[in-house]
Amino acid sequence: MNTNSRRDFLRNGWKVGGALLGAAAAWTTYEALRPLASGAGGATVKVGSASDFAEGTATYFPEGRFFVVNAQRHFFAISQKCPHLGCRIPFCESSGRFECACHGSVFDLAGEYIKGPSPRGMDRFGLQADGTELVVDTSVVTPGPDRGVQEFLTPPKGPECKGA
Ligand code: FES
Repeated sequence: MNTNSRRDFLRNGWKVGGALLGAAAAWTTYEALRPLASGAGGATVKVGSASDFAEGTATYFPEGRFFVVNAQRHFFAISQKCPHLGCRIPFCESSGRFECACHGSVFDLAGEYIKGPSPRGMDRFGLQADGTELVVDTSVVTPGPDRGVQEFLTPPKGPECKGA
């Protein structure tokens, strides 16, 4: 291999590697934000005891695509699916709120609507105690609270995650 062909090979190799890295980054972003086609498929999920969930926290359960939250000692299983167009909503630890990256809807810890295009708060799955264990039933879905319902609204803990 002469010097020119080796240089061409290395130059093109970098281009291919860069294209693959770009494709991987795009796929990762798409996977994180793509709308969920449906809920969690009607499964029941044992999530632990109430004492496992500290007040003011949201714990994600990927197998059911929901969060278990402890909002002022009220426990909810909140669907990750945004009521607007179905994007997956992450919990922002710094603000203590759910912030949808797709179109900017924001919800408090209990999934109550704060702002953005969402027509309501985040939907909730059935949550019951089986002895000391909490069990979430994703076949039981209660539409999120209407806009304006803010029983559990508290000031943000800190800055929003969006744009961070
Ligand atoms: S999908 Fe969440 S705000 Fe549009």
